[in-house]
Amino acid sequence: MEFDVEKVRKDFPILATQMNGKRLIYLDSAATSQKPRQVINAVARHYRKRNANIHRGIYKLSEEATEEYTKSKDAVARFIHAKGYRNIVYFRSTTEAINAVARAWGDANVGSGDHVLITEMEHHSNIVPWQMLAKRKGAHLDYVKLKDRSELDMEDYKSKLALKPKMVAVTHVSNVLGTINGVNEITRMAHETGASVLIDGAQSVPHMPVGVSGMDADFVAFSGHKMLGPSGIGVLYGKEDVLETMEPFHGGGDMIRSVDFQESTWNELPWKFEAGTQNMEGAAGLAAAVKYLKKLGMENVRAHEKALTLYALDKLKDAGVTVYGPGNEEIDRRGSVISFSMKGAHAHDIAQVLDSEGIAVRSGHHCAMPLVTKVLNEPAVPRMSFYIYNTQVEIDAAVAALGKVREVLKRGA
Ligand SMILES: Cc1ncc(COP(=O)(O)O)c(C=O)c1O
Repeated sequence: MEFDVEKVRKDFPILATQMNGKRLIYLDSAATSQKPRQVINAVARHYRKRNANIHRGIYKLSEEATEEYTKSKDAVARFIHAKGYRNIVYFRSTTEAINAVARAWGDANVGSGDHVLITEMEHHSNIVPWQMLAKRKGAHLDYVKLKDRSELDMEDYKSKLALKPKMVAVTHVSNVLGTINGVNEITRMAHETGASVLIDGAQSVPHMPVGVSGMDADFVAFSGHKMLGPSGIGVLYGKEDVLETMEPFHGGGDMIRSVDFQESTWNELPWKFEAGTQNMEGAAGLAAAVKYLKKLGMENVRAHEKALTLYALDKLKDAGVTVYGPGNEEIDRRGSVISFSMKGAHAHDIAQVLDSEGIAVRSGHHCAMPLVTKVLNEPAVPRMSFYIYNTQVEIDAAVAALGKVREVLKRGA
């Protein structure tokens, strides 16, 4: 059963604001999602009722803050079908979570001449940390090529696996193309060759049911701010036995068991990865975000976005644009981001015309420069992305605004 989008919209105070004299139409949730009052209230409630440092106090308020923080991890674990809070490390973001793996796991497991395998459709956060690791270690960084500028070339993947990479790091959903990668199969094949696997779930966990147990990846990273939660909190899921073998990423307070003048020993999971005072209000907000999404049902979230994406792809057929990524006949392999280009119009100009109509879309290389500039061969592309609060009416407005761009182009010609 789908949810009532108008009821959902009432939970998001920002959607009532005006932009350039028009009601805001927010089509940039792939960059960051808007926040419902339930999340805003949970953060405020933390400060009002639970604010004390966790794991430190002997007093009741600190114990309550610690319980709230641990419960947040349990909620996140249940949301992605992980065993429990020991699998869940909080970092600032997907970016920091991947950096942690590239450092803490990579430094111990990747050596000179070894291979790390990523793909041509990765976000910079799943490219640069591996480039840095490869440089530190004298390792090779290989890329799985794309087929039809749209999906991973699985034959190429097979041939690159023959190089026996130590790590395969792949995005679940492309933030530019919308392509949903077959991560279960990708992980199975990688494990068969002895590689470890990291899945970048920044664009999947907020939008569809994701079960880490079925996926079987060693690591999954995602960000709170893209799934209705606060910014500054991101998740690294890791298999317990893998996390157990890893050295910490950051050193400092709370991540230790004991400290002497020259040596220290580490705290148990997951705390050994969390040094210093944590984003406790962020954890409270993320728990509220997960609760909100669970109540809607992730199957319903996906169904809503799928319907919107199909609708938009259909409308864009007559909008004089080239759409990238899988088409509507492949909707089961497509998430809810749509990047496109219009001949003769710069991406930023398109975004500006839409902005003048109160419509927020992102324009640029979307932190995927190799994909946008080398594979799509564009300096920048505009991108619409949808979430639980978007409607067909908003898509109609965006398509109508694209008509205005075409008029401006005609006048200029
Ligand atoms: C696929 C993908 N991976 C990683 C990231 C990085 O997320 P964050 O900026 O929250 O670290 C993004 C953000 O846009 C993304 O879309």
